[in-house]
Amino acid sequence: MNDRSEFLANAGTDTQLCHLGHDPASFHGFVNPPVVKASTVLFPDVATMESHGQKYIYGTRGTPTTDALCQAMDALEGSAGTILVPSGLAAITVPFLSVLSAGDHALVVDSVYAPCRYFCDTMMSRLGVEFEYYDPEIGEGIERLIRPNTRLVHTEAPGSNTFEMQDIRLIAEIAHRHGCVVTMDNTWATPLYFRPLDFGVDISIHAATKYPSGHADILMGTVSANQAHWPKLKDANWALGMCGAPEDSYQILRGLRSMGLRLAHHEKSALTVAKWLESRPDVSRVLHPGLPSFPGHDLWKRDFKGASGVFSMVFGGHDPQMAKARAKAFLDALELFGLGYSWGGYESLAVLVNLSDRKIRKAPADGQVIRLQIGLENVEDLMADLERGFAAAAAI
Ligand SMILES: Cc1ncc(COP(=O)(O)O)c(C=O)c1O
Repeated sequence: MNDRSEFLANAGTDTQLCHLGHDPASFHGFVNPPVVKASTVLFPDVATMESHGQKYIYGTRGTPTTDALCQAMDALEGSAGTILVPSGLAAITVPFLSVLSAGDHALVVDSVYAPCRYFCDTMMSRLGVEFEYYDPEIGEGIERLIRPNTRLVHTEAPGSNTFEMQDIRLIAEIAHRHGCVVTMDNTWATPLYFRPLDFGVDISIHAATKYPSGHADILMGTVSANQAHWPKLKDANWALGMCGAPEDSYQILRGLRSMGLRLAHHEKSALTVAKWLESRPDVSRVLHPGLPSFPGHDLWKRDFKGASGVFSMVFGGHDPQMAKARAKAFLDALELFGLGYSWGGYESLAVLVNLSDRKIRKAPADGQVIRLQIGLENVEDLMADLERGFAAAAAI
């Protein structure tokens, strides 16, 4: 380790985010790395070409720009290596393809990001892998589901849309006892608020589309592995021809510089709104791990360093049709909150949540779930907008 990397390794998170991934002295003092776009890389002679005896050999296998982002992610995740892929969804599918073979059984948390389930139930099932979905709060009960051919345990905490917490350390420990690989979708917390590899996870998955991008304009996924799983992951990445574009990598690295400050704002505003919603008689429940009333709160408090800006509320009453009508009126009345799916940007969003694909953690019976992403706007303005939604719903 040189002086700079040693200093950075012991620095605070915001300091690290400002300096990770690129050393200005390595490129004429420019503060940011160059955007190196490439397919072809030239070799000085046949011997170097045959032995792949130089750092860069082909555009799909990395450029100085993509490397800068990979290095930053390795420092944040504590990983041996990181691959870049074109979306957060690809950050799930590539490690699954790297680990699973025909005849294998895999356990996937039931509160998983829905397109992951689609991938498992369609393409992966066609390739001969059997998937079983488990209760996010299963804890040590996961052991009963592990079979001799179980190869992968996929986790996501908090869960998509309903935010159930998982005891990641416990699940990883049990899964490892049976020789399974443990993956985790850590998009909600980012490595600033939770470092999966420190809790025994082998492969940490991140939709960099969300908070690292921060501006709702870039799609990218990162997958970071520990030493044992890095060679296989890297090999799968090459075999599949998946790579991150240099322009997008540059933008994600740029986003990382301010991610700590943005997350702190998202966290504070989201908790303010969540507490306010919880106090309202027209809201049945608020699904936010940072609220003491939430069933997974103790796990969140024990393991996580913070909360990001996405959570849900259950709203509209016990009659499902009426609850949906009220929820639609609520959403259509919002002016500041946009109706959109991909969160993590600077702007607030709201969506009607569809939980019809759940096998175990079914949709709540006490109302319709609405997911909110609390952006960087002034929180009073956001609450005034939500108040507009509540008034419209009450008029139904
Ligand atoms: C938890 C989670 N993981 C992965 C993804 C996929 O990210 P992308 O939109 O980049 O494919 C999303 C997207 O919403 C997500 O919410």
